[in-house]
Amino acid sequence: MSFTFTPENIKTIAKLKTRYPKPQALSLPCLWMAQYQEGFISIDAIDVIAEVTETPAMEIYRVATFYSMFHLQPITKKRVMVCKTLSCKLCGSEEILAHLSKREDVLVEEVECLGSCGSAPVMQIDDLYYEDLTTQKVDAVLEQL
Ligand code: FES
Repeated sequence: MSFTFTPENIKTIAKLKTRYPKPQALSLPCLWMAQYQEGFISIDAIDVIAEVTETPAMEIYRVATFYSMFHLQPITKKRVMVCKTLSCKLCGSEEILAHLSKREDVLVEEVECLGSCGSAPVMQIDDLYYEDLTTQKVDAVLEQL
């Protein structure tokens, strides 16, 4: 395996293990740590997480592929997740998606509700939400990145 958690992450995992009743409950925190550490979640990282959480690797893989915030390939473009669920759709997410699809510098993904329906339409880049979007606001956000 070519993936290993950093010493700091190993300490964090040891600390978290004392908080959860089952090691399997560490799956999501470990996936986040792996992604922050490497920029994506490799198969080697999944194997390490499986070992750490005493969980079959296929189960870790299923969790990693279920959630849209995890990526299993290196990301070369800025990843922009745009909510496509009802509130955002009613407030213009399709226009935002069409606008973003013309840009070659971003990887656009349609995702389910981001939990910020009151400020639709919403997009997420890294850990930040951008709300009440217009196409002008999208361009302004992307220019600042
Ligand atoms: S419907 Fe878009 S954030 Fe909930």
